[in-house]
Amino acid sequence: MSAIESVLHESRVFPPSAETVAKAAISGMDAYRALAAEAERDYEGFWAKLAREAVGWHKPFSKVLDESNAPFYTWFEDGELNASYNCLDRHVEAGNGGTVAIVFEADDGAVTRVTYQELLSRVCRLANALKKRGVKKGDRVVIYMPMSIEGVVAMQACARIGAPHSVVFGGFSSKSLNERLVDVGAVALITSDEQMRGGKALPLKNIADEALAMGGCEAVKSVIVHRRTGGKVQWNADRDLWMHEITANEADACAPEWVGAEHPLFVLYTSGSTGRPKGVQHSTGGYLLWAAQSMKWTFDWKPSDVFWCTADIGWITGHTYIAYGPLALGATQVMFEGVPTYPDGGRFWSMIEKHKVTVFYTAPTAIRSLIKIAEADPKVHPKSYDLSSLRILGTVGEPINPEAWMWYYENVGGSRCPIVDTWWQTETGGHMITPLPGATPLVPGSCTLPLPGIMAAIVDETGQDVPNGQGGILVVKRPWPSMIRTIWGDPERFKKSYYPEELGGKLYLAGDGSVRDKDTGNFTIMGRIDDVLNVSGHRLGTMEIESALVANSIVAEAAVVGRPDDTTGEAVVAFVVLKRARPAGEEAAKLANELRAWVGKEIGPIAKPKDIRFGDNLPKTRSGKIMRRLLRSLAKGEAITQDVSTLENPAILDQLGESL
Ligand code: PRX
Repeated sequence: MSAIESVLHESRVFPPSAETVAKAAISGMDAYRALAAEAERDYEGFWAKLAREAVGWHKPFSKVLDESNAPFYTWFEDGELNASYNCLDRHVEAGNGGTVAIVFEADDGAVTRVTYQELLSRVCRLANALKKRGVKKGDRVVIYMPMSIEGVVAMQACARIGAPHSVVFGGFSSKSLNERLVDVGAVALITSDEQMRGGKALPLKNIADEALAMGGCEAVKSVIVHRRTGGKVQWNADRDLWMHEITANEADACAPEWVGAEHPLFVLYTSGSTGRPKGVQHSTGGYLLWAAQSMKWTFDWKPSDVFWCTADIGWITGHTYIAYGPLALGATQVMFEGVPTYPDGGRFWSMIEKHKVTVFYTAPTAIRSLIKIAEADPKVHPKSYDLSSLRILGTVGEPINPEAWMWYYENVGGSRCPIVDTWWQTETGGHMITPLPGATPLVPGSCTLPLPGIMAAIVDETGQDVPNGQGGILVVKRPWPSMIRTIWGDPERFKKSYYPEELGGKLYLAGDGSVRDKDTGNFTIMGRIDDVLNVSGHRLGTMEIESALVANSIVAEAAVVGRPDDTTGEAVVAFVVLKRARPAGEEAAKLANELRAWVGKEIGPIAKPKDIRFGDNLPKTRSGKIMRRLLRSLAKGEAITQDVSTLENPAILDQLGESL
């Protein structure tokens, strides 16, 4: 039975305990329904009230939502604020400067703590140093850094001077970094000498040098380098600057640059259904509001919490639930440099124990891989650690299969902690559909119900509502404050991708399939309906990987599909036609490894195909269209039962069905 079918037949329900309900800010389903009804009744009033409460405004807004240039919606447009002021100064001014903001644990276990007061000083010093190098409001700064306090300082320093940042995940290749530097038109790059993960060093600065040498990004005048390991780096004295040197003599204060609510806070690249990644542009006001408010609601956050989100700052989860949401609330959070399996598979559990983490937020892939390790070795089983500090668990990034959910619930949460399965996207800025810990009855594998104010629905291909129990396309019916504003430099693509005419032009198209339960209305996500794969919670476009493969001089043609995988959710399978004869045996294995390494170089290791199949051709219709549904069956090792009468070359299926 597939995971989706099993969720649809899921009969286990876990209502929150009376104690959890009693202590929660949104206490019980009636409280949830009352908030949702308030949003239905007076949509703008609902959001305006939250925006006044959650955000500190330098100049208050008078307008709430402007739909006159739909789908380019604006929120709180005449209001002015600064995100960094909200995340730092506000807490210091309120007398909480001594509160620990970040408990940073390095790969080797070394722990560094930084208070709000210290974080503010460090952000101001870097902001001053950036200004001195000519970086000003509206200029874009690319950040290519490991998980580090300095990474958060870099993001906040950009926000402080009104320079939109674009963080590029440290696992991306020089080519991917170059494409993003060029597309966003960066004037500065902030990086580190090296990144440490699992005891291994990765030379970030060298990769950054390669990216800059590829050209097209001559506007990058300064490369600011954070010294993480002291490893050897090349140095270009005209361009490169050590972060510790340029910040050493700067002032601890830097007046925040007040920006309009719609001023872009950041651009974050993500995969779509074409070969080119999309620069998702977020606003300052609406984004910050939802980062803070969703953090408060979804995790029922309280000042006594120790929050830990294991995502990387290179992804949206690390933006909203590390760099902005927790800081906007004045929270104490744990930040981790390394990987969950180093030095052993008990790392997460030992860190929860050590730092007395109360709210833990991670990805299904991590849970699935740790289940395997823990079940094979009792020493690193969560039951061998004191996890009694935990009160709420969360997951994000991909569907969680009910069995992994149950394991997480019982073994990590001790059957006492609600699990919030949060569905959202780079484009949504923050959580959209998720249980509330003190209200929603939990169903393993379901993200349950939309947060108050989020008008999620399921429609058919023409944009008409479908009844509960019937699968369809997941949409959001009304704009919300933290939504994507546009695709950087490509407004037409924004419109076509997210507000397609086929659905009437007024519904936000998420790109996921979903179904609602007949009785509860709970949503279950069925995965992407476009050419986007989700491997270990990382979003990858099949076209991007195909483009990378055909860029290799030996490849004539390539088609990439996903295959369900027990650990990574989905795995990448590539069908490749070479310009030379179809290889076999050892030669095929050797070429497959070469192509895997090639994709790693072109995009990054996360995009490497797990399985490569060589053929003399690809299965095509007489009009030349590749029949992807056949490739998906072949990738899964299924017998082909579909109609293949329109296929030009049916014999090819046997060849492509063979694994190496
Ligand atoms: O397919 C959905 C899946 O991840 C996609 C968004 O990916 P990205 O923009 O990289 O953001 C990931 C982190 C927010 C969605 O379109 N997805 C995300 N969360 C869930 C999910 N699928 C099922 N359940 C979830 N909780």
